[in-house]
Amino acid sequence: MLKRGGVHQAVREGTLVDGCGRRIDHLRLSVTSACNLRCLYCRPKGTIDPFTSAPVLDDAQRLELIQHLYETYYLRQLRLTGGEPLLHSTLVSLIQGIRRIAPDLDLAMTTNGWRLADLARPLLDAGLNRVNVSLDTLDPAQYRHLTGGELAPVLDGIERCMAVGFPPPRINAVVLAGVNDHQLVDLVEWSMQQGTEIRFLEAMPIGPAASFNRDRFVSAATIRHALSRRFELVPLHRNHGETAVRYLAVHGGQRGIVGIIAPVSERFCGQCRRMRITADGRLFPCLLDERNVDLRTAWRHGVFSPDTVDDVVQSAVEAKQWQGPALQPTAMVQLGG
Ligand code: 5AD
Ligand code: SF4
Repeated sequence: MLKRGGVHQAVREGTLVDGCGRRIDHLRLSVTSACNLRCLYCRPKGTIDPFTSAPVLDDAQRLELIQHLYETYYLRQLRLTGGEPLLHSTLVSLIQGIRRIAPDLDLAMTTNGWRLADLARPLLDAGLNRVNVSLDTLDPAQYRHLTGGELAPVLDGIERCMAVGFPPPRINAVVLAGVNDHQLVDLVEWSMQQGTEIRFLEAMPIGPAASFNRDRFVSAATIRHALSRRFELVPLHRNHGETAVRYLAVHGGQRGIVGIIAPVSERFCGQCRRMRITADGRLFPCLLDERNVDLRTAWRHGVFSPDTVDDVVQSAVEAKQWQGPALQPTAMVQLGG
């Protein structure tokens, strides 16, 4: 579907290309900045109102936007995020709507897993392909300390996901010194038993948790070293756009896939294919750059203007730097990870 020929080379080719020549065909869409948790590395207690009153895009607007990006720029992957996306009361029908518009879109979601046990079946039926679950510790008391929530429903949610027929979820664990950095081997062994892939994330100094994360930072090299004392780590091929460096971890008869995501010490900007849209309709071309544009200007008196989206999205994406300046005052809970 080639639109508006002649305006911009990327449009003539039907793709969105940033100022550094990277093709941008992955979108992370936050559907709510509300979250039932207050993870210390994301939204420490008292820093951000969990139920923000900022004006949000509605689902009809989200569908108009997605349809336009899918048809005009060959969007390949859409990841639904939050806050906590399962708090968005109309998420299942939003997914059904996305599926109607974009039958072959790779549609994923990142969740804290709290409501996953109940929603796994309807999410699968609606057309969601894959799920990532955030889980930083297997110790219930520490989970409570770190997130303010309960561990058991998350474990149930992971199990239920697989029971209803999702591929095994990927587990995301943010590594924090003195908090869970001595539990990495346990997390890998648990993950091997579940048949899931686990990915360890360096804590990014973002938003109100920036200094907390800086003080407890654990580098990818340290994570690798800790894991290699127990497992043989066989490097796996890295697909384009993949943020994690992945390994087959082997110990005795056990094996499983472990990823390390190192946005701080081993940046993967050359691999970047993504942009993100917040629940209130701001487009952030880069997670580590505070510059953003308001997509709500694309609706005038309720009528969607694809031309405005083209102008706004293209100019924002063109301004994307090779590496973000690593300054991001906006919190992860609003950016959608
Ligand atoms: N640094 C790294 N990862 C983070 N996440 C949230 N905040 C941070 C941070 N400051 C993780 C969440 C979730 C994913 C979207 O990002 O745990 O798994
Ligand atoms: Fe992409 Fe920006 Fe992160 Fe680099 S810093 S990987 S450009 S989001």
